Amino acid sequence: MKSLSVLALSLGMLLRATDAIDTHHPPMPGALSGKYHPPMPREAAVAGEDSQALDKRASTMDCNGYSELCTRAFDKVAYVTTHNAFAIGDSIAANQNLDIRQQLDKGVRALMLDLHDANDSSISLRRRQAEAQAQGNDTSTDLAKRDNAKSTPTLCHASCILLNAGPLVDQLNYLKKFLDENRYEVVTVFLENDSKFTYADMAQPFYDSGLDKYAFTPSSTDADGFQWPTLGEMITKNTRLVVLADTKSDTTVPVPEWMVYDRNYAVQTSYSVKAGQAFDCNPISTVRSLLVMNHFVSVDYSVLGMTFEKPDYNSSVAINTRAGIVNQANLCGVAGYFPNYVTVDFFDAGDVLKAVADINKVNYRDISVDTFSSDASSSATGSSGDKSSTHSGAMTSGIKRQGLAAVLAAATGSLLLLLAF
Ligand SMILES: *[C@@H]1O[C@H](CO)[C@@H](O)[C@H](O)[C@H]1NC(C)=O
Ligand SMILES: *[C@@H]1O[C@H](CO)[C@@H](O)[C@H](O)[C@H]1NC(C)=O
Ligand SMILES: *[C@@H]1O[C@H](CO)[C@@H](O)[C@H](O)[C@H]1NC(C)=O
Ligand SMILES: *[C@@H]1O[C@H](CO)[C@@H](O)[C@H](O)[C@H]1NC(C)=O
Repeated sequence: MKSLSVLALSLGMLLRATDAIDTHHPPMPGALSGKYHPPMPREAAVAGEDSQALDKRASTMDCNGYSELCTRAFDKVAYVTTHNAFAIGDSIAANQNLDIRQQLDKGVRALMLDLHDANDSSISLRRRQAEAQAQGNDTSTDLAKRDNAKSTPTLCHASCILLNAGPLVDQLNYLKKFLDENRYEVVTVFLENDSKFTYADMAQPFYDSGLDKYAFTPSSTDADGFQWPTLGEMITKNTRLVVLADTKSDTTVPVPEWMVYDRNYAVQTSYSVKAGQAFDCNPISTVRSLLVMNHFVSVDYSVLGMTFEKPDYNSSVAINTRAGIVNQANLCGVAGYFPNYVTVDFFDAGDVLKAVADINKVNYRDISVDTFSSDASSSATGSSGDKSSTHSGAMTSGIKRQGLAAVLAAATGSLLLLLAF
């Protein structure tokens, strides 16, 4: 006997800006290529530095790899953004090949993360529950216990059964190291609350990793009238981490204040484009100061006679081209928006860094750094099957063992998980 349940998760969030992209004159490629030599940490920003010193410093530093970006407001800069940055490995739910350390070292400056309760929506739990109920056992106490249990925010895609990349704090520890060692970089983290987490639950791993010390707190709780500082200002004040939380439910002003309710600051374009369809640049909800330009697609995947959508590497190869990404950005420009978060699947496919340099109107150069090269578990090449995804590998083979047909879909970041047991 088979019982099926379908879980739908939706990705949410997002983002606008005023400067139209120059559609006619992208910078010439490659003019200033060569290995990026980040400034030495000892020159790093000092909080409380006077404005003259700040100006002086800002005139000599590179911000996110380019000196031209230092004087630009945060919302006038484009960032390479990885959709489900943590979702690597062999799972059909994987959106990336390179792990978060490799992404950061290569130039990704915004990470989209889905937070799940690994104890929820778990097949084994559901099965145990069903068995207990079948034996006439009262499971209400167990359920209440589980609902009240404090769970660690865990990075999963669609379901922790399908792809579990471990606790959020593990990846935040890497980001902390990256920001410690790369003092001129500004990074955004998108949090998607896919479970029962409170703001405090979501903030805890930031405290535990020490990342909160870099968190930027907007002076306003709403984007209306809010002027973002320049990257140079954020770097000199050492507030180089923007945390945008899509909480799904609690739309009140988050506490702590550095956790920003993303729909007040950002809007996104469609997240459910299928392979072969054209991208547009139509914000799907109220326009804000930041725009997430989604540039990923899904392909159909059939199982048990049902069709789902999943991320697809080959499709990313086809769409992550410099011209393909710049074309979509140009649509944004025509519509009067600046695409801040250029969001892709399989960041390693195509020419995402070059396209984002074009959008920023800077001459592309190699801005990669080696923060994690001494980290034995971070492979230099990166492929599906990265070591840090052994957890997800174990989970997916668990699926096979249980003879469970599972799958999903990701077009939109909206995923469907089919559970049969
Ligand atoms: C049901 O309750 C009995 C008696 O407490 C227990 O031995 C059994 O393991 C329970 N079954 C399940 C599936 O939890
Ligand atoms: C799952 O729940 C158990 C007991 O309630 C708890 O000890 C454990 O930390 C939870 N696991 C996660 C990943 O939150
Ligand atoms: C996160 O989502 C859950 C489930 O939708 C909801 O109960 C909870 O309030 C949300 N947390 C916040 C901070 O909005
Ligand atoms: C992806 O492209 C490669 C090379 O063209 C091909 O060998 C492979 O079969 C493709 N994979 C899928 C899933 O289409």
